[in-house]
Amino acid sequence: MAQEEAQLPTFHADGIDTATIDLLVDVLDKQAALPGIQRMRAWAGAVLDVRAGERALDIGSGTGSEVLEFARRVGEDGAAVGVDPNPAMIAVAERRAAAAGLTARFVDGSAYQLPFEDASFDAVRCERVYQHLDDPAAATAEIARVLRPGGRVILIDSDWATAITHPGDPEVVRAASEALLTRTVNPTSGRRLRGLLVRAGFAIDDMGSEAVIWDPEAARPLYTEMRRAALEAGVITQEQHDTLTAEMEQGIAEGDYLLSVTMYAVLAHRLPR
Ligand SMILES: C[S@@+](CC[C@H](N)C(=O)[O-])C[C@H]1O[C@@H](n2cnc3c(N)ncnc32)[C@H](O)[C@@H]1O
Repeated sequence: MAQEEAQLPTFHADGIDTATIDLLVDVLDKQAALPGIQRMRAWAGAVLDVRAGERALDIGSGTGSEVLEFARRVGEDGAAVGVDPNPAMIAVAERRAAAAGLTARFVDGSAYQLPFEDASFDAVRCERVYQHLDDPAAATAEIARVLRPGGRVILIDSDWATAITHPGDPEVVRAASEALLTRTVNPTSGRRLRGLLVRAGFAIDDMGSEAVIWDPEAARPLYTEMRRAALEAGVITQEQHDTLTAEMEQGIAEGDYLLSVTMYAVLAHRLPR
């Protein structure tokens, strides 16, 4: 089946293969179209409240969509900046900014070593990046460094241990869900964001959550990856893998399916040192 051939690409900086860029962009665009992601982004944008003239940074900016949102808010007197370690992703974001006629700057760099001066931003956002980081505390210290005192941050991430998938034999689905967790560097990132910010010297202002419901187009690569991970880990048999594949496809065909993963967001501001 053609859908089985697609493999979920990795967004981890060390594992990025620029040849898969079209697939990565397609995955991000499909996820960005999910109503749950849109609701989370709308709320996050409202509470981060970036204003005209401010300097705003998106870390792990991907296709650049949220940097463009910053650009609309800050205007010509402010600065909308995205940073990402994948040069191919930066090229996509730059093309989209130019097509939208917006002034935005995209910089090659890592969350661990942001290529910016101390206290150079008023606001920072970082969405679905911490799950790819093996040292999220170091990234949070970098955010504290580049924010001015009083500057705001919003961290948004999934917690993959909250994934619910249906249909399928519950035991097989549980094994597949657990196998998927081992493929992510920091799978329970969502629940850890608050503590990371507190320990890095931020005051927490608000928290939000959304159980994002994935449509079949966005979910299929993940379903495939779950089954593959479980098969390769030896926790399900080939027969269980094939049965689960058939059950999931039948569920999608009949409209009897669910994939939801809860995303958490934490809004905070930097306390004076
Ligand atoms: C799942 S995508 C999310 C993109 C975007 N934030 C969004 O919500 O659509 C993860 C992004 O994190 C980037 N990334 C991976 N490792 C990173 C690191 N160490 N520092 C900064 N960004 C990183 C990837 O290149 C990719 O663009």
